[in-house]
Amino acid sequence: MPLAFLKGETAVGQYLIEGGHKLEGRVRIQGSKNAVLPMMAAALLQRGTVILRHCPRIDDVRCMEEILRYTGARTWWQEENLFLDCSKIVTGEIPGAYADKMRSSVFLLGSLLPRLGSAAVSYPGGCTIGLRPVDLHVKLLRNLGAELTEHSGGISARAETLRGCRHRFPRVSVGATENGILAAVLARGETVLENCAREPEIFHLCRFLRKMGASIRGEGSSVICIQGQRELQPAQTEVPPDRIVAGTYLLAGAAVRGEVELCGAPVEEMGALLSVYRKMGGQYEVKSGTLFTDSRRVGKIPVQIATGCYPGFPTDLQSPLAAVCATIRGRSRIRETIFEDRYQAALEMRKMGAKVEISRGNLLIQGGRLYGAEVLAGDLRGGAALILAGLAAEGRTKIRPSRYVERGYEHIEEDLTALGGKIRKAVQE
Ligand code: UD1
Repeated sequence: MPLAFLKGETAVGQYLIEGGHKLEGRVRIQGSKNAVLPMMAAALLQRGTVILRHCPRIDDVRCMEEILRYTGARTWWQEENLFLDCSKIVTGEIPGAYADKMRSSVFLLGSLLPRLGSAAVSYPGGCTIGLRPVDLHVKLLRNLGAELTEHSGGISARAETLRGCRHRFPRVSVGATENGILAAVLARGETVLENCAREPEIFHLCRFLRKMGASIRGEGSSVICIQGQRELQPAQTEVPPDRIVAGTYLLAGAAVRGEVELCGAPVEEMGALLSVYRKMGGQYEVKSGTLFTDSRRVGKIPVQIATGCYPGFPTDLQSPLAAVCATIRGRSRIRETIFEDRYQAALEMRKMGAKVEISRGNLLIQGGRLYGAEVLAGDLRGGAALILAGLAAEGRTKIRPSRYVERGYEHIEEDLTALGGKIRKAVQE
């Protein structure tokens, strides 16, 4: 993997892991990154203060908070609650330095346009897991009546009024579905969105918007109908627990054959993972809001899965699952169907002794022993996967940079330490 993404960084955070320790105990699951980011964008659709409770203190949230401040919002924290006062929004032109850092800045078009009538964002950044175009967002906003100009640096958009429309997404996209909902709740008339994504985060966004006074039907299905309103009111909501973080910790337990209790895990959103987990020998039960997992029998049955749109197996857990497969005897096969370039972390595990190859678009993993090594994390979930591999490996593993992982995990090293893992974060000058 090229080292280009480390260029120019003087102090690079890294994770240091001593592998081979069993994980046992209880962790509380943080609020969901993918649910809270569109909710933060939704705050721009009203003129008061929105409160997001149980909000994760992760870098992506901090970055979105900075962007909102730049537009004129006031933001502050009280313990784990994030307050967003959007009474005065003065600009919709987001400089590249902000929007570059995360893909979710594209949501801002859907909420800044109805608020200000114009907006400009740079092409979104984010993890290096594939091309990640924004054509679906652009087509949709045009259909709602916005004038969009694409230029080398990004997208400028104008719309005196957005008008409800019937729009069929040519491909399923979580972000474009969310952007469509955000843009339509204040549009004139009715909008019908077809071929929508059905991820739980869309359901959570709609529930929050409804608290703000939006009229939405059909979320969780592929057709969502929105009746535009004249204005929305402030509201508060609980950020739901993060199904991907819960899944990562479940798989961390599986990688070291541990017994991990996940307090507040959104079990009803984790069906595809739990079914794979059971097939690989994992056992679990749910009692009083806690998912009790027992991975002592994991290790003999290889995995065969393809990622898919919800309720399929989440692409965000593909790399962490690959780390577990690298410890399971026999040959596992994983097919990534959402992001074309998401096998990098699995390939990086070769440095740790993993027998991994790509054949006809499938990731083939011949499980066995892993050994500590120095590895590079090039994306958020890939970084988490390398941490799992490090926990399962013999000896010491060094993973850098830590910054991608910090985008989405509040304190992964503390959580894993609480479970008995030997991991710490350090800064390399
Ligand atoms: C969201 C999640 C991300 C997750 C992904 C798929 C957030 C902040 N991120 O990302 O964690 O991995 O859903 O579950 O919620 N595409 C296009 N054109 C577009 C938009 C997307 O071709 O305009 C393609 C993408 O390149 C990808 C596929 O559609 O191949 C799905 O992407 P999408 O569902 O949009 O993912 P995100 O919303 O970016």
